[in-house]
Amino acid sequence: MAKERRALIMLFGGTGDLATRKLYPALFNLYEKGNIRDHFAVLGTSRAELSDDEFKAMVTKSVAKESNDKKMIQDFVSHFAYVAHDVTDVKHYSVLREKADELDKKYEINGNRVFYISMAPNFFGTVAQNLKTQHLLTDNGEFNRLVIEKPFGRDYKSAKQLNDELSAAFDENQIFRIDHYLGKEMIQNIEAIRFGNTIFEALWNNRYIDNIQITLAEDLGVEERAGYYDNSGALRDMVQNHIMQIVSLLAMEQPVAFKDVDIRSEKVKALRSLRVYDVIEASSNFVRGQYGESPDGKTKPYREEDDVPADSNTETFVAGKLLFDNYRWSGTPFYIRTGKKLAGKFTRVDVVFKKPLVDIFAFPQSGSTPLNDNVLTIFVEPNQGFSLRVNAKNNEQGFHTEPVDLSYMEDQKDVPQPYERLIHDVLKGDGTNFSSWPEVASAWKFVDQIRQVWDIQQPNFPNYIPGTMGPVAADELLARDNRQWVYRINQ
Ligand code: BG6
Repeated sequence: MAKERRALIMLFGGTGDLATRKLYPALFNLYEKGNIRDHFAVLGTSRAELSDDEFKAMVTKSVAKESNDKKMIQDFVSHFAYVAHDVTDVKHYSVLREKADELDKKYEINGNRVFYISMAPNFFGTVAQNLKTQHLLTDNGEFNRLVIEKPFGRDYKSAKQLNDELSAAFDENQIFRIDHYLGKEMIQNIEAIRFGNTIFEALWNNRYIDNIQITLAEDLGVEERAGYYDNSGALRDMVQNHIMQIVSLLAMEQPVAFKDVDIRSEKVKALRSLRVYDVIEASSNFVRGQYGESPDGKTKPYREEDDVPADSNTETFVAGKLLFDNYRWSGTPFYIRTGKKLAGKFTRVDVVFKKPLVDIFAFPQSGSTPLNDNVLTIFVEPNQGFSLRVNAKNNEQGFHTEPVDLSYMEDQKDVPQPYERLIHDVLKGDGTNFSSWPEVASAWKFVDQIRQVWDIQQPNFPNYIPGTMGPVAADELLARDNRQWVYRINQ
């Protein structure tokens, strides 16, 4: 039986896209399972002038596809209330406070509060500080927690400034920085695969792993988000957060215990031993791309998308080689890539093991093909599971080896979605799957170096065709090291 959590969730950006697409359905699923039930309330706010009933209708619509049980939806939505609010109007926070206190009393929440900020990032600090100075934080409950959506700054300097603003109102252990990739089933599974299996962890180092590849591919373009994306680019949008988090989980040492503080300290340690590139290293180890027009003319170039300047130099693709200067990983590169308008929508991690030092089957008369790399592939999306490529004898006459895949695919029915997992973690106070400030800071310091080089060098854009895996230079990056991407099209 699920443990019921008591909390008032105050949501800034309550009418936004994220709230209606992800947050309300996630809360409903928690309600259905009994993680929240009688003692919770959601106070939505945004600038829009809406009545409680209009807001409730919006929430009802956003959760409609989650259940056929109309009564349950109605009961769930009855816990929602709305106040129109301008976050810069300090005086108006008293209205929020009164409403929050009223809901707290009505649902016997006993002072537990979650402040969830899902709005334009320039308001994150203002909201956090006003919550504190206008006394919305309680002192009679078990917790006051702050949930922050991305982006967390646009470089180290701005991220530090934002963090200072937040820290003036909340302690680090009260701040939950969302990285929705950390809510994904198979990203969470990295720790289980590594630390639950001697056969992997014993080999998880530069003696046995040749390289690790991380691919976050998207087939869509920027859609309606060009206003944000063109100021961000793939490096900030995907690499600084999602990819660096995945890298840290793959690279970290074994935590003392499976607890947020222990995991975080190992992740930070790993990120701090990542080599921060100088100008020359940054230009040779990172590749950027921007998509042009598809040969059939059906996909227009990035520079012709709505709200994108015709001379935009924003990258829609990044590939890079990351190197760690530590005992475990020295000499084993991590290759990463991500981009829009690629050959498909998928996320995967390929861990490529070294070949046996001697291939005893490779004498010419055997007819055997050379041994294949052992590859552990973690399929994050759309399918969830993993496979391990091993060399085995095929069952024909003679003795020939061939690669076979041992694979496990999860049944995806009823797998909780990232936001459901993450909100549940917030209610439990478990920071395992959130980015801590030192992690964010290290990731920015690494990414800033690449950005600096790119900001002064003119790219030759567009340089890749929609529907491919990015520019040729991304393949050359590995070819230079006598390697290739495990996932290739037309292979
Ligand atoms: C977001 C980025 O963080 O992640 C988007 O801002 C991107 O540009 C999205 O499309 C990808 O997330 P997912 O879960 O669909 O892989």
